[in-house]
Amino acid sequence: MRQIQTVPRVTLKLAQTLDGRIATRTGDSRWVSSPESRAMAHRLRATHDAVLIGIGTVLTDDPHLTVRLASGPNPVRVVLDSRLRLPLDSAVLDANEAPITVVTIVPSDSAGAEEIRRRGAEVLTVPGLHGRVEPVAALQSLFVRGIRSVLVEGGAQIATEFVRRQLVDELVLFIAPKIVGSGIDSIGELGVTAMTEAVQFSSQETVQLGGDIVFRGKPIWPE
Ligand SMILES: NC(=O)c1ccc[n+]([C@@H]2O[C@H](COP(=O)([O-])OP(=O)(O)OC[C@H]3O[C@@H](n4cnc5c(N)ncnc54)[C@H](OP(=O)(O)O)[C@@H]3O)[C@@H](O)[C@H]2O)c1
Repeated sequence: MRQIQTVPRVTLKLAQTLDGRIATRTGDSRWVSSPESRAMAHRLRATHDAVLIGIGTVLTDDPHLTVRLASGPNPVRVVLDSRLRLPLDSAVLDANEAPITVVTIVPSDSAGAEEIRRRGAEVLTVPGLHGRVEPVAALQSLFVRGIRSVLVEGGAQIATEFVRRQLVDELVLFIAPKIVGSGIDSIGELGVTAMTEAVQFSSQETVQLGGDIVFRGKPIWPE
């Protein structure tokens, strides 16, 4: 029977070092990859309906999440922020740049939600799981709003959760020829103990770009 699609297609994009870090141990990630890779990352933004990050990345990096290093439309910017920790002076809250949606489990009539809405953002309240935004519920509510493709740009906890929940349709991984030692792992605990349980990839493509290696592949999930 044909499955009815109720969630957008998800591309997970990360930039990591040779030793698998997306940031140093202090959280610094500017920049892991080359200017050429970052331009490709902006082209990816322009070809997705939405770009999604976790509140941790907003608090560390304060990104704009707009398309500046390529030409093309700005995607809807989505932040998963269970408790509405989003600072009101965050760069993503400049609603003149591009639409912004904050997905939370805080009731939509709360004072915090109202303040964020006053900045021009949409606040979507979805069901939670273990006190956090339930990612499938988040994706479904974006789908209902017409969003058919989402570029997930991290950080580590969001990337891990989307992989753990098998919600990724394609991985685009920029691997920079750098080693930083201890730092923030690109993907954290997945509960894998045997190599046979590893996520593998089909339709793989590997190219070199500005000194980096760009890997693209579609995950084959373990049983
Ligand atoms: N190199 C790269 O490609 C790249 C990309 C992005 C970020 N980074 C780096 O990554 C670091 C930030 O990573 P991070 O792990 O701290 O932040 P993150 O993954 O951006 O955000 C994590 C937060 O998202 C919220 N969240 C909401 N729903 C969630 C769910 N279902 N599962 C997990 N989290 C959920 C949680 O806060 P609440 O519980 O309060 O909601 C959680 O603390 C920074 O150092 C940044 O520079 C690197």
